Amino acid sequence: MTAGGEGALVFIGFMGAGKTTGARAAAAALGVRAMDTDRALEERLGTSIEDYFASHGERAFREAEEDLVAEFLEDPPAPVLSLGGGAIASSRVRDLLRRHTVVLLDVDEPTAWRRAGGKKRPLARDRERFAALHAERSPMYESLADAILLDGAADTIRAASAALRDIPPGVKVVWAIAGGAQYPVYVGDVLDGQFWPVPGRRFVISDETVASLHGSRLPTAYARFAMEPGEGAKTLATAERLLRGLAEAGMDHDDHVVALGGGVVGDVAGFCAAVYQRGVGVVQVPTSLVAQVDSAYGGKTGVDLPEGKNYVGAYHQPRAVLADPRTLASLPAAELAAGWAEVIKTALIAGGGLWERVRRGHPNVDRELILACARTKLGVVASDERDAGRRQVLNLGHTIGHAIETATAYRRYRHGEAVGLGLLAALTLSAQPGLRTEVADLLAERSLPVELDPAVDRTAVLAAVQRDKKRRAGRVGFVLVEAPGKVQTGVAMAESDIRAALSELR
Ligand SMILES: NC(=O)c1ccc[n+]([C@@H]2O[C@H](COP(=O)([O-])OP(=O)(O)OC[C@H]3O[C@@H](n4cnc5c(N)ncnc54)[C@H](O)[C@@H]3O)[C@@H](O)[C@H]2O)c1
Repeated sequence: MTAGGEGALVFIGFMGAGKTTGARAAAAALGVRAMDTDRALEERLGTSIEDYFASHGERAFREAEEDLVAEFLEDPPAPVLSLGGGAIASSRVRDLLRRHTVVLLDVDEPTAWRRAGGKKRPLARDRERFAALHAERSPMYESLADAILLDGAADTIRAASAALRDIPPGVKVVWAIAGGAQYPVYVGDVLDGQFWPVPGRRFVISDETVASLHGSRLPTAYARFAMEPGEGAKTLATAERLLRGLAEAGMDHDDHVVALGGGVVGDVAGFCAAVYQRGVGVVQVPTSLVAQVDSAYGGKTGVDLPEGKNYVGAYHQPRAVLADPRTLASLPAAELAAGWAEVIKTALIAGGGLWERVRRGHPNVDRELILACARTKLGVVASDERDAGRRQVLNLGHTIGHAIETATAYRRYRHGEAVGLGLLAALTLSAQPGLRTEVADLLAERSLPVELDPAVDRTAVLAAVQRDKKRRAGRVGFVLVEAPGKVQTGVAMAESDIRAALSELR
């Protein structure tokens, strides 16, 4: 891929993704022309694709398509192009795409079928074949894409267009949508000391460890603040100190907070940004694995009270997220392991390719893994910003995980370690002994605990679960797993079952 104005912006995606209208919207936003290879091909063939397919067969069609698309990619007739859904099946086309900025308009199979199925298109007449093609092509689209848009609505594309033209090399972008907010998530070698996607003065909040290790990766800051590392500092007292620091340094609405650190910094700095003068922007720069695969996305911010974790907080979507896996090189092994619990949780929710990769054991943390986790979370948040429905899937393993953290005053386990134990309890409650063993092995492989320390008071954990339930007015039940990729929310559980799941953590 090339960025910064070289090469074309090329829209790819499955049938029904909205590539043609998407490319037109992007071209209008950038003040340039768009061309569609399917339309151009019909002109060249002198007939509709449907008729050509019927009279000459798929093979002849693909050859004609490959020639035309290759010509377009070698010498783009317009700065924005949209390709027919199947064009990327050609390796010649895939090679040529490397010269351009490739934008995937993501569409799930049911939506694609609703839009394109049963109509004129020759490959969209039979649902089973359509679904198989979607499953087969999805990983190919993803691997080619420099940017992924979670929907193809014209205003999403308008908002994203400028950012799509300016993706640094070695970086992939997911365009996040949550409630009324939209923002770019950059994953890859994005911290180069210069690139910065948001205008205004930077007020950097970090913890002492991360500030000294990675502070210099950011462009110049207007002001810097450091908190103590660790969950113990995720308090209102820390937030007050930081807020007063921002005020003393003269921060205003044209400025933004930069949260440089793990999930604790992200939550506290995000919370400060949410409440400072009733809300200023925040850019999340996650540096721990937990934060890069999970906490930096989705806009939940907050601090703990002695009475409960995250008891004070706000939804506040970031202006951008910059996740650079190179920062993970300095992360202590135990923290990296804790992040694996969130990776395993995300893979259980996502199923498919991510679960297959994770279950093979010991995969490396790389851009693709972080991107897949970020995408999973962002996909869920896009459909439900505020935990009203689908977002509850993200609490998989967290009901008991949080209770363990609360009952041990956040001191005994790292968040990820507690989530790992919570996952095992959730799989017991899901009556999935096979999957539980598999997940326990994956956790153990990373030296994560698979047994609850016998010194931990089970009754206190149970009480914390019940308190959590009461706090949510009984609204939120347990999140259970039917199979990887198939997760149920809001399931009521008897106290005796919860007790039994806790006893199994021995
Ligand atoms: N907002 C959300 O949606 C969400 C989701 C999941 C978790 N969380 C929160 O995230 C927190 C846990 O996050 P965490 O595990 O990142 O904790 P953390 O922020 O405390 O980081 C863990 C430790 O690693 C250090 N560290 C971070 N990056 C480093 C690096 N690159 N090199 C060396 N050291 C580094 C930190 O200084 C800290 O000591 C919890 O408070 C949890 O509630 C929030």
